[in-house]
Amino acid sequence: MAILLDNLGDLERTHSCGELRAEDAGKTVVLMGWVAVRRDFGPLTFVDLRDREGLMQVVFNEETAPEAHARAKELRGEYVVAVRGEVVPRSEATRNPRLSTGDIEVRARELLVLNEARTPPFQLDAPPDKLASEDVRLKYRYLDLRRPQLQANLRLRARVVSEIHRFMDGEGFTEIETPILIKSTPEGARDYVVPSRLHHGKFYALPQSPQIFKQICMIAGLERYYQIARCFRDEDLRADRQPEFTQLDVEFSFASPEQVYRLIEGLMQRVFRLVGVELPEKFPRLTYAEALRRYGSDKPDLRFGMELQDLSHALEATTFAPFALVFEKGGEVKGLTLKGGAHLSRKSLDELQEFTRRYGAGTYTPLWVTDFPMFEYDEEHERFYAMHHPFTSPLDEDLPLFERAVEGGETALLGNLRAKAYDTVINGIEVAGGSIRIYRQDVQRLVFKALGLSEEKARARFGFFLDALEFGTPPHGGIASGIERLLMALAGIDNIRDVMAFPKTASAADLMIDSPGELDPSQLDELHIRIVED
Ligand code: AMO
Repeated sequence: MAILLDNLGDLERTHSCGELRAEDAGKTVVLMGWVAVRRDFGPLTFVDLRDREGLMQVVFNEETAPEAHARAKELRGEYVVAVRGEVVPRSEATRNPRLSTGDIEVRARELLVLNEARTPPFQLDAPPDKLASEDVRLKYRYLDLRRPQLQANLRLRARVVSEIHRFMDGEGFTEIETPILIKSTPEGARDYVVPSRLHHGKFYALPQSPQIFKQICMIAGLERYYQIARCFRDEDLRADRQPEFTQLDVEFSFASPEQVYRLIEGLMQRVFRLVGVELPEKFPRLTYAEALRRYGSDKPDLRFGMELQDLSHALEATTFAPFALVFEKGGEVKGLTLKGGAHLSRKSLDELQEFTRRYGAGTYTPLWVTDFPMFEYDEEHERFYAMHHPFTSPLDEDLPLFERAVEGGETALLGNLRAKAYDTVINGIEVAGGSIRIYRQDVQRLVFKALGLSEEKARARFGFFLDALEFGTPPHGGIASGIERLLMALAGIDNIRDVMAFPKTASAADLMIDSPGELDPSQLDELHIRIVED
């Protein structure tokens, strides 16, 4: 049943719940926030009041403030209230050392009930292992976001982005917005497409990244571009991927890999200082080939310092099918050495893995992985794909090999080509990736040819870009860092959804607004779209 609500009127908050301390004792304050918990002890009612800064215990005393006390009895979880009262020290016995405001409480004189709330579908202050299922929390995202942990993540994110702006501005970069309704840019994932109403049968694509536009900015002579850019990729989702995410996107002219490394090292140092972490001045480097050989991964987590050991020799004569099969195909079997680990059970090994993942050596270990392959062979489609994207330059010394592979028809050689492509990896997370670009039209044509694009197809898709390359394109290069990934590395968070305000599920759905959704028949008509049932 609805209760009588009070008006806020022109009452103003004097303090936030989390900012008051013992030194504030004696002050009269006005606090506003949500009821976290209410506890009744005879003539005393205690309310933990929560706002974005923290919690404050408010005491309603039947004897000294009978009206407020009576109203306090109506309060339930998540009601919105305003309280006027006096800050008083708590007695030694009732101090709460786990709370930053635990030395004091507010003795209420007046209570306004500003809004009521339905019983939340899950407990907001449950311990992490007892939280309601993520689906329920995503449906009621506005409630989940009231949890202090998520609020802290979002505020850290905002601080990171604001630091990035300051840094890039200081380095002389210009922030430039590029369009969202564009044409397909191949970055390896499927495009999200938007039907055009005015151009019958035609579609826009949402950018997988602003790649082509930032290169056009270089051709346009803007020289130093950056953007906090929204990107859209219709790909299989994992714990560190979202269909819609944000990048710090960077490009500059006359760029060498060394300049990109220095810029990003400087940026990462500034950003990590926000959480009190001092990163090394120069990040160690591994080539892609070395990373795979030594760590079995192109994003090794160097915190554990466990290099792969080649076990092929010791296991040569094995009949164990998974290994035998590898040898048959000319492969190698490698293993990690875990000192004293011989006695560990499967369960303990799993637990160890979880432990190291969560608490692993606290030292942050960034590195560059360089010289990625230009192309990757796809067995299923029996063709080569660009490993980074088709605008990435091969190493200068590999150019003759490239010409031989494409013009000489020795296609298999494509697999040996190395690119001027690099990733920044921090604690095993790929936080950024980029490359020095192709700026010569002949080399760009060679890449399109290697990818199996005929002259006509290349013109149809990228004619505008091939044309632009003919008008004095400066050498250029850049990089993009996933803001969510950066946050995950920065705050040791495993789930990408915990660093986004309104994330999507693994099946790319938004459970709160229930998207994707259907369109009205009239909207479909306007777009000339007919839905065909399977
Ligand atoms: P790339 O595809 O490597 O490069 O992406 C750059 C960085 O963006 C982040 N990222 C993602 N984050 C969340 N969800 C996703 N689905 C996702 N996909 C990528 C990662 C990755 O390192 N245009 C090039 C950049 C360039 O060459 O300058 C590009 O987008 O942190």
